[in-house]
Amino acid sequence: MRWLKVMLLSMVTTMAAHGVVSKTALGKMPDGTVIDLYTLKGDGIEASIMTYGARIISIKTADRNGISENVVLGYNNLDAYLADKTTYFGAIVGRYGNRIALGKFSIDGHQYQVPVNNNANSLHGGPMGFDKLVWQAHEVANGVEMTLVSKDGDMGYPGTLTAHVRYTVQHQALRIDYNVSTDKPTVVNLTNHAYFNLSGDPKKNTILNEEIEIPADKYTPVDSGLIPTGELASVEGTPFDFRKLMTIGDRINNNNAQLKIAGGYDHNWVLRGSNGEMKTAARLYDPKSGRVLTVTTTEPGVQFYSGNFLDGAKFGKAGEGHAKNSGLCLETQHFPDSPNRPSFPSTLLKPGENRRSTTIFTFSTQK
Ligand code: GLA
Repeated sequence: MRWLKVMLLSMVTTMAAHGVVSKTALGKMPDGTVIDLYTLKGDGIEASIMTYGARIISIKTADRNGISENVVLGYNNLDAYLADKTTYFGAIVGRYGNRIALGKFSIDGHQYQVPVNNNANSLHGGPMGFDKLVWQAHEVANGVEMTLVSKDGDMGYPGTLTAHVRYTVQHQALRIDYNVSTDKPTVVNLTNHAYFNLSGDPKKNTILNEEIEIPADKYTPVDSGLIPTGELASVEGTPFDFRKLMTIGDRINNNNAQLKIAGGYDHNWVLRGSNGEMKTAARLYDPKSGRVLTVTTTEPGVQFYSGNFLDGAKFGKAGEGHAKNSGLCLETQHFPDSPNRPSFPSTLLKPGENRRSTTIFTFSTQK
């Protein structure tokens, strides 16, 4: 009897483990490399992740009436992703997500210059960042692990960096675990650049009617190139105060110098609690569909970007439904330009260390 029970139990777990992840070929890179798509199914969530840029291409989850729809922006074919060099839809950005002033930093007295691709500054690891590379993938329990080896000198950064990014589904959540190591001192800041629109229909609804809460008392104001000035400014009495749930569009056009610089929100909030500790980064609510997204993370900051540079006209038919403010990013991260700001939590990674971090996107609904 006991062996029968053990056998049945192991059959059930095997079935469950295989049932949740499936793999198909999505398309080919110009050099013929096949891009695979992994579909992860949890209770009430279905997430699709491809090996090009380790990108989330869709997350389907139910609204308050039980209707499941995609809540992230994306394209329905690989070529559209290859043609789009600037939105970073769903991608893992790196080696340094967000900006480094003038693309310059120094480690142990050595000056490094990485390519500048955003006015005078370096953005998201340079013109051939991790979002544009093909990752190696293998199935794990309830998910997929993507691996990228970035060689010493890749995009100007020192050290061969090995990045493992594991996506798993648990109940109604998508969890991302990062584990990064290097063979020479380097700087690293990985994040996911998914654009959320909880309505399920970004053609009809922008995110301006969605509501957001960011439990942070401070944010990092920026200069005209979106580089932090170094100040940790209080959100009190500003349009950056999201300590209570606020409609995104309510103050976005206020006469505020920081909002003018970015054309909306494109700033880093300083999360409460320490670096490495799991905490809430944001809660997003769509009154129309009832969908709620709660973002928790071990990272010290979150970049809330309100999709200010999106432009539906840019990519022809493929860009339809991607108008200004049609999606927003919640990039859990270390602060921008940390390599040049000793007072910010450090992004330096040394040989023998592992940089581990976790971000969880949990979905639910509210009446
Ligand atoms: C980040 C940046 C934005 C913008 C987007 C990509 O979120 O902070 O300024 O560059 O990436 O368009």
